[in-house]
This record gives sequence, C-alpha cells and structure tokens, in this order.
Amino acid sequence: MLVFGTRPEAIKMAPLVNALKDELDYFDLKVCVTSQHREMLDQVLNIFNIKPDIDLNLMKKNQKLPNLTSSILNKMQKVLKKFQPDIVLVHGDTTTTLATSMAAFYESIPVGHVEAGLRTYNLKAPFPEEFNRQITGKITKWHFAPTELSQQNLLSEGINQSSIIVTGNTVIDALHLILKRIDKDKVRQKNLKNILNASLPFDWQNEHFVLVTAHRRENFGNGFLKIFTAIKELALKYPKIHFVYPVHLNSNVSKPVNEILNGFDNIYLIKPLEYEQFIYLLKYSYLVLTDSGGIQEEAPSLGKPVLVMRESTERPEAVDAGTVKLVGSNQKKIVEGVSRLLNDKKHYQKMSRAHNPFGDGLACKRILDVLRTI
Ligand code: UD1
Ligand code: UDP
Repeated sequence: MLVFGTRPEAIKMAPLVNALKDELDYFDLKVCVTSQHREMLDQVLNIFNIKPDIDLNLMKKNQKLPNLTSSILNKMQKVLKKFQPDIVLVHGDTTTTLATSMAAFYESIPVGHVEAGLRTYNLKAPFPEEFNRQITGKITKWHFAPTELSQQNLLSEGINQSSIIVTGNTVIDALHLILKRIDKDKVRQKNLKNILNASLPFDWQNEHFVLVTAHRRENFGNGFLKIFTAIKELALKYPKIHFVYPVHLNSNVSKPVNEILNGFDNIYLIKPLEYEQFIYLLKYSYLVLTDSGGIQEEAPSLGKPVLVMRESTERPEAVDAGTVKLVGSNQKKIVEGVSRLLNDKKHYQKMSRAHNPFGDGLACKRILDVLRTI
C-alpha cells in the first residue's frame, strides 16, 4: 500500500504507482491518499492518471498540525487494519508520512520509506519536517535513500547498512517522464503554451523571468514579510524582469503575498500550476527563487540557478555542485543574490551548468527490485 497526501509526495510517488501498476500480476497494489492537500493533490493525480483506492479526504482549510496528525493516525489505523498490507510505502517528511508510519507501527506492518535519510539535524528547520522524517526513520524497515549522502546520514544514526538502498530520487523519474511526454507531443506543447499564455501576459518564452515559490512553515510571519519585501524591491529595481509566482493555497502564504505583491506590472501572482505546466515554465525561467524541497532537485537538472530562501537545506548535494545557493529569508541576501545573477554573466553561467546529483531516473526500478524480494 502506498500512502501520500500532499502535492510533492504525489509527484514523487506517482512514477512508483505507475511502475507497480505495470506488475499487477505480481503485486497487489492499493493506493491510499489522506488528502492532506485537496486541489493541489488532485492536480497531480490527474496528470499521472492515478485513481486512489482509498481517499480519506481529510484536508480542512487552515488545518492545524495536531488535528491533522491525529485524524490521519486514527483513519490510517482503520485502513491498515482492514486491508492488512504486507508493506506500507510512505514518502519524505509530511504529516501524512509521520502519522501513517505511526499507524503502521501500531499495527505491526512494516514501513518502506521513500526519500529516506534527508537531514538538517535542526528540528526547527524545516519545521515540522525534520522531526517527521527522523521519527519515520525510527519505524522504517526499508530505507530508500536517494543519495550516498542520505545513506551516510542513516548509517551515522546506527541504521543497519542492509536495510538501506540507495535508489536516486523518484522526483527525477517523474521529471523524465513528464519531459519525455512533453517533448514527443507537439499538440501537448501547444496546449501548455496556450494555458500559460492565458495567465502570463508577457513573452515568457523569450523574456527573462524569475520563477518564485514559497510555503515553509518556519517562514510564516516575519520570514515571509522579509521575503516578499525583497521581491517587491527587486521588481522595482528591475522593471524589465518579470516575476512569476504560483502562490501556494495556504492562507498563511496567500494573504501576505497579496498584501505585499499585488498590483505590480512585472509581478504575476497566479494559481498553483499543474505539474506539467510548472515544469514547462521552469524550462523557460531564467532563475528560481524558492523555499521548496522538490524544486531544489528539479531545477538543477534543467540547469536553472536556484536561490533557496532557507537558512539550511537537507539537499546539500546541489549546493556543493554550485547550482543552489542559500539566501535565507534575509531581504538583503535575496536582493543581492538575484541582482548578481541578473548582472554577472559569468556567475550566472557557473550556476546554470546543468547538474543532477539526485538520480538517473531509475529510482523506481531499484525500489521495485527490492520489493520483489520481500
Ligand atoms: C505541506 C507539508 C510540507 C510540504 C508542503 C508541500 C506538512 C507538515 N507540511 O505543507 O512538508 O512541503 O505540504 O506543498 O506535512 N491548502 C488548500 N488546498 C490544497 C492544499 C493546501 O487549500 O490543495 C491550504 C489549506 O488551507 C490547508 C493549508 O493549505 O489547511 C495547509 O496545508 P498543509 O498540508 O497543512 O501544509 P502545507 O503548508 O501545504
Ligand atoms: N509544483 C507544481 N506546481 C506549482 C509549484 C510547484 O507542480 O505551481 C511542483 C514542483 O515541480 C515540485 C513540487 O511541486 O515537484 C514541490 O512542491 P512544494 O514546493 O509545494 O513542496 P516541497 O517540495 O517543498 O515539499
């Protein structure tokens, strides 16, 4: 049974669902969504044509972590009791991941953790994700670590080598799948262009634009205030540069975004994009400003410099490779970081070397190889 609930988990589990679907003579597969996210999850289910067997439909507007955790835990325990899967696969570090792993633990059902071993070792950043993944790691039987570094983290925590499998990140499988689908289909490309043209009234295929996303809980309040003020400063400083920002549906994000960034000619506040549209737009972007986890993995593969608006990252591989730079939620650092990329060609070229330390697109195959032996 695969369990997920948010947009990024769905994107990263989708290629695994599809790989398992190809082997239904061997695997009895159940897909359970908690629907910790609703619209943003449905966008992904739709793109990857996934119809969940179980949908707990739990999202509430402005949900609080204790309520969300306890409802997932209670509901998932019932689901696991009923279906008695041989293994539960969870992903990453969300509340869905934590509560599902706990429910599996209480039901004595083994857990496989996809994207295991990412760490900042700071329980406050990312919050609560660092806690979620460490606890999930305690419960996990099979750790599917994306990189050597994530394997090293697990080994240093005393986890047995035999239960760790370095697979690459399934996000690269998803990215390859989507890029291939777009590349080989001219009609699809035309549709994508039409959709993006409808929300972006400038020549986004030829003019420079900065792609922005932000949603981390530790940036709520003061962090977002500084981030959005920095973007406003940049938009005023560089009137010919466009800033495209698909705004996360969390009102802790959308409210201050609209208060600070609405009404500028070169800032486009748009709805969350479907994954395919987002990746297509990412391909045309000049640089990325984000606090997202997944985008730190995708953008380097497409040779896009990323400025990460966080104090630390659990994905230092791309920082070491030079494609990702941390600027925190520091207004001065954000403005300086973007300005340098816009003004210094050499610096831009150095950061935009296509580089992918996160996988070769075969992560799902490696996970299935393990699942077949269980
Ligand atoms: C969650 C994850 C985070 C992940 C992020 C991906 C936790 C604690 N956080 O954060 O790790 O990086 O998803 O985006 O698990 N909302 C909607 N519609 C949607 C989705 C969200 O309206 O489709 C609004 C709702 O008001 C919801 C709120 O956003 O209550 C927050 O959603 P939640 O899943 O609790 O937190 P995220 O900040 O999205
Ligand atoms: N993404 C998307 N539409 C958008 C913005 C992002 O499909 O409008 C995708 C993006 O390509 C990446 C994932 O969503 O795969 C990242 O999700 P998010 O930043 O919400 O969560 P995180 O990765 O930080 O957990």
